[in-house]
Amino acid sequence: MASGDPLVLGIETSCDETGVALVRGNDLLFDAVASSMDEHARYGGIIPEVASRAHLEAMVPTIERSLGEAGVSLDEVDAIAVTAGPGLVGPLTIGVSAAKSLAVALDKPLYGVNHVIGHAAVDQLVHGEFPERVMALVVSGGHSSLLLVDDVATSVTELGSTLDDAAGEAFDKVGRLLGLPYPGGPHIDRLAREGDPTAIRFPRGLTARKDQAEHAYDFSFSGLKTAVARWVETRQDAGEAFSLEDVAASFADAVADVLTAKTIAACQRHGVDTLVVGGGFSANSQLRDMAALRCAEAGIELRIPPIRYCTDNGAMIAALGSAVVRAGVAPSDLGIGVDSSMPLTTVTV
Ligand code: KG4
Ligand code: ZN
Repeated sequence: MASGDPLVLGIETSCDETGVALVRGNDLLFDAVASSMDEHARYGGIIPEVASRAHLEAMVPTIERSLGEAGVSLDEVDAIAVTAGPGLVGPLTIGVSAAKSLAVALDKPLYGVNHVIGHAAVDQLVHGEFPERVMALVVSGGHSSLLLVDDVATSVTELGSTLDDAAGEAFDKVGRLLGLPYPGGPHIDRLAREGDPTAIRFPRGLTARKDQAEHAYDFSFSGLKTAVARWVETRQDAGEAFSLEDVAASFADAVADVLTAKTIAACQRHGVDTLVVGGGFSANSQLRDMAALRCAEAGIELRIPPIRYCTDNGAMIAALGSAVVRAGVAPSDLGIGVDSSMPLTTVTV
C-alpha cells in the first residue's frame, strides 16, 4: 500500500444505493453499501422520495460501518469525495449534504465528482492504474456512455451516449412487456442463454450509414424495444406460440452487438488498446461474451471489474476522489449544489 497517499472517504447516493468507502491510492480499505431496491421493486421503478428517505436513514450507519471495518477513525480521513451528479436530485442532495457536513466538521477538502466517470475509475482499484489512454463504456439502468479517458482525474471526452433509453432500461422495459419481474434485465439475460440469438433479426439502432456522420458513437434502444413489442404483439394477436427464450436471445444479441461494435470502432479510431466496461449492465452475459470475443479479435485488453464494483457503490467515488486528489485538482467550493444532468466531461465540480 502506498501509505503516503491521502485517505479518501467516498460517498455515493445518486440513485437507490447508499455507498460509503475508504480508499488510499488505489487500495480499497472498505466499501459499505445499503440499498433501498426492495422498497422500489413493487412500484416497478425507483421512487426518488423513497430513495431519499432511505439514504438519510442509512447514511450515518453506513459511514460508521465503513470506518469500523476499515479500522480507521474520522480524523484520519484526508479528503471527502461525493457524487455531485448526474443522478436523482433528492438522493444526490442527501449525499452532498452529508459530505459537506463532514468536510466542515473535519476541516478537510471536499470533492464533488461525476458518478459516471466513477464507474470507470473504480477499475483502478481492481486492475491497477490506467494506461495513458483508455476507452470506457459505462452501461447501467441510467446511463449508456462511451468515454475517451486521457486522464481519469482531469481529461475525459464524451464520444457518445444513448439518445433515449439506457441499455439496462431497455432490458427492464422489454422485461415488463414479456411479463417478467422488475428489474427485468437479469431475467432476460437468463432466458437469453437458453435461446437462439439468430432467431429474429431485430434492428440495430444508429448503425445505418446515414447515422455515421453525427451518431457514430451514440446509441438508441427505443426503436429496438418497440420492434420487440410489435413482434410479440403480432404473435399474440394471431394466437401463435413463440419462444420467449429466442425473443430474449435475439433482443440481447442486438443490444450487445451495437454496444460492442461501436465501442471497438471507437477504440480503433482513437488508437486505444484498453477498454474498461462498468455500470450494472456490465453483468449482462451477452455483452460480456461478445466484448471478450471482439476485444480478443481486435487486440484490445478488456477490463471489467467484479460485478459488486459495477453496480452503484462508494468505492467508485472514493476511487475517483483518490485519483483527483493525487492529480492535485483544486477542491470543490463548500457551496456546490447537485447537478442531475452533470456533463460527462466534468470530472470534479
Ligand atoms: O448500475 P445499476 O445497478 O443501477 C443503475 O441503473 O444505476 O444497473 C442496474 C441495471 C438495471 O436496468 C438492470 O436490469 C440491469 O442493470 N442489469 C442487467 C443485468 N444485471 C443488471 N441487464 C441485463 N443483464 C443482466 N445480467
Ligand atoms: Zn451508476
